[in-house]
Amino acid sequence: MSDQAKVFPTAERARPRRVVIAGASGLIGTALTARLRSSGGEVRQLVRGTARAPAEWSWDPANGKIDVAALVGTEAVVNLAGANIGAGRWTAARKTLLRQSRIDATRTLVEAIARMTEKPAVLLNASAVGYYGDRGAEVLDETSASGRGFLAEVCEAWETEARRAEPLGVRVVLARFAMVLAPSGGALAKLRPLFQLGLGGRLGRGEQWMSWVTLGDAVRAVEHALADPQMNGPMNVAAPVPVTNAEFTRALAAALHRPAVFPVPRPVLRVALGEMADAMLLASTRAMPGRLRASGFGFEQPQLDGALAQVLERSH
Ligand SMILES: NC(=O)c1ccc[n+]([C@@H]2O[C@H](COP(=O)([O-])OP(=O)(O)OC[C@H]3O[C@@H](n4cnc5c(N)ncnc54)[C@H](OP(=O)(O)O)[C@@H]3O)[C@@H](O)[C@H]2O)c1
Repeated sequence: MSDQAKVFPTAERARPRRVVIAGASGLIGTALTARLRSSGGEVRQLVRGTARAPAEWSWDPANGKIDVAALVGTEAVVNLAGANIGAGRWTAARKTLLRQSRIDATRTLVEAIARMTEKPAVLLNASAVGYYGDRGAEVLDETSASGRGFLAEVCEAWETEARRAEPLGVRVVLARFAMVLAPSGGALAKLRPLFQLGLGGRLGRGEQWMSWVTLGDAVRAVEHALADPQMNGPMNVAAPVPVTNAEFTRALAAALHRPAVFPVPRPVLRVALGEMADAMLLASTRAMPGRLRASGFGFEQPQLDGALAQVLERSH
């Protein structure tokens, strides 16, 4: 059966009705909040700083501070919080923030859950396919070992922290997101202007594998995992047809009706972006959604061409 043919047994399962989201203001969190609310769910949002709406609860993850009342009565906790990985050059200070913001947020949530008498059934914690590191053409699923490098180490530490909720009797899902393609924000927002000017091109030799997923499918995958009591541990949130960077470049240029004739050599990327270039743009990660497919999840956009057409159409 094709992915498109078996769309979403998810929806009919026992969806959690009350969900608390950390990092709800971000790319994935905003879309997830909207989707859960549109299907009648109650979403509480943890915000750093002052709460400005009844559904917002203030927390201070850097200092381990949270009002446990924010979690009381919820069935699921979704943790998407962390300083943005692609937002700035990876200086030593930035790397400390990228790692520590994720560890602190996760630890604060797990410690709050530990203090509760009636605990949420599930903690869905973000992670990334960066867990696998730079792996050439190796096909990676959730049974694959972790890789080397900064992102892999951050993901491992982040996942270890989330797994501390397991002995508390909480189902823990580690959502290893691939590059999320969205109508606005995320990686496409950075690539698109260059491609529109006809300045897009493959990165390095373009042989590196890129795992990707549309924002719509990512959010449905999260919803699916929250509703499926059998889903636990790592879960790759990546479309079933990853592509090489050269294929991605061709597809994006074609979707925008522009040429993509300017390859960007590795040394240029390294000078421009430093270590981030190797970890995010030149690393090869061919991740497959083994757990999602085994659990009956169907991707609405399994192929890149269709995905880009949908995402770019929505951004108009
Ligand atoms: N988007 C992707 O392509 C992708 C791919 C792989 C993995 N992921 C991971 O999935 C998670 C969600 O992704 P996203 O794209 O939605 O992220 P995002 O847009 O960067 O949003 C992350 C949220 O984390 C909170 N945050 C920012 N700085 C923080 C800090 N220093 N300490 C604690 N919280 C902080 C912010 O919420 P508040 O300001 O409201 O607190 C922000 O809205 C992230 O952890 C990301 O690393 C994303």
